[in-house]
Amino acid sequence: MTTARPLADLFPRLDEIPAAYQPDAPVEQRDYLVDGELMHWDGPLAEVRSPVYLREADGSERQVVLGSTPLLDADAALRALDAAVAAYDYGRGAWPTMRVAERIAHVEAFLARMREQREAVVKLLMWEIGKNLKDSEKEFDRTCDYIVDTIHALKELDRSSSRFELEQGTLGQIRRVPMGVALCMGPYNYPLNETFTTLIPALIMGNTVVFKPAKFGVLLIRPLLEAFRDSFPAGVINVIYGRGRETVSALMASGKIDVFAFIGTHKGAADLKKLHPRPHRLRAALGLDAKNPGIVLPQVDLDNAVEEAVTGALSFNGQRCTALKILFVHEAVLDGFLERFAARVNALKAGMPWEPGVALTPLPEPGKTDYLHAVLEDAVAKGARVINAGGGESHQTFFQPAVLSPVDSSMRVYHEEQFGPLVPVVPYRDLQEVIDYVTASDYGQQLSIFGNDPAQVGRLVDAFVNQVGRININAQCQRGPDSYPFNGRKNSAEGTLSVHDALRVFSIRTLVATRFNEANKELVDRIIRDRQSSFLTTDYIF
Ligand code: G3H
Repeated sequence: MTTARPLADLFPRLDEIPAAYQPDAPVEQRDYLVDGELMHWDGPLAEVRSPVYLREADGSERQVVLGSTPLLDADAALRALDAAVAAYDYGRGAWPTMRVAERIAHVEAFLARMREQREAVVKLLMWEIGKNLKDSEKEFDRTCDYIVDTIHALKELDRSSSRFELEQGTLGQIRRVPMGVALCMGPYNYPLNETFTTLIPALIMGNTVVFKPAKFGVLLIRPLLEAFRDSFPAGVINVIYGRGRETVSALMASGKIDVFAFIGTHKGAADLKKLHPRPHRLRAALGLDAKNPGIVLPQVDLDNAVEEAVTGALSFNGQRCTALKILFVHEAVLDGFLERFAARVNALKAGMPWEPGVALTPLPEPGKTDYLHAVLEDAVAKGARVINAGGGESHQTFFQPAVLSPVDSSMRVYHEEQFGPLVPVVPYRDLQEVIDYVTASDYGQQLSIFGNDPAQVGRLVDAFVNQVGRININAQCQRGPDSYPFNGRKNSAEGTLSVHDALRVFSIRTLVATRFNEANKELVDRIIRDRQSSFLTTDYIF
């Protein structure tokens, strides 16, 4: 059995949904945040559809409409940018010059308000992108933890900058200062978490921000707009909506963006970066495409490899940038691996996001099941088989995961980032084939090695450390813990994010230096004692 119930019965009737998770009446959102005010948009709106359908009494199904959001035009987006530029005021604005302890207090105020919206945001995560309850709660809580950790890390950073250094007769104080105006855009699979892992560091370091929510997972930002408005000075955080083509392109073409924080495709990032007329002014923090391989060696704990590879490939239906998107399995263990893997995949529970124990849910991208069918059929036409019973069956927005083997380089699924529930398995005999795949790949985010022979694992680690940003041994790929660096090579990323690194990505070190003599010592001492500068200070944050 592929699922506990036939796919045609997967979607519920309205009265079958528990009261706490019933969809709210559609929200017509017309407000957006500019210069500390919720503005009203009279123009066109974009409809927000849920991946979830409801079964009607006559047996038909209708896709749930959750509401609509403003389709701002370039002028409205540029007004948001003007507000951010004015609040930054060439680095002389209240926010970029504010003492770190005060900026932290603003972010803490925001966090307290954000926590009040947990239930609303979690519910919208489920309805807008189909993320299951447990993972939606985890996304919210992990984001709050990230903010707390960021505050700790900034205190740490500030403490180490609160002292003066004396080198070769030069007295200096080095501090990290903001870059300017940041444009932050997140992805639909982590519309809260991944966006906030750039937005919060950008803000707390003193940048002003224009934030455009992801293409899905848009309404869930609405409950936070008042918290943003009330927690930060006017213009420090501006939230815009609409198509990237009209809004973000205009922002980049203005040349006034200093930091571009974007999680999405490398093509999208490249197109936007090219619009900026002053390329050296622009710093980019990018999380991009990935095709992370899982490599199963002949000497391996097969149960662990299967367990990790199933969650690695299929949690949130494979819609994670860190998902295992291709598995290389040594032919000596291929049959055993496929048998156990297929059984585990078919034991995953399909259903609605709020149902207990649900692992597989409907997909939010329009046309996604058609795309997955096309990639699957291409592989089958070229000699792959669907290994698990029912794999590849679909209904409306739901697609039953398909395990494909043997996959080879002639197939689309060998190259394309499927970002969904297809698991290609490539049998191999010689490890060099796998090394060649990784070396030739356009991507270089992470990979997983499953094996217990020290010589084989050690050889692969050395072959791959200069190819990817993280190697996982006997474990799936993942971003966390957030204190570890998260980055990638080639088309997979630009810059490194972690709690510690993100503070550095959104700032630059500035040094104030003077020759160490009596007159200058006295001058600096007076500046500090009389609190004449917020940069030159020995204040220590506890
Ligand atoms: O989509 C990419 C996310 O950064 C992955 O995070 O590995 O914690 O799921 P995760």
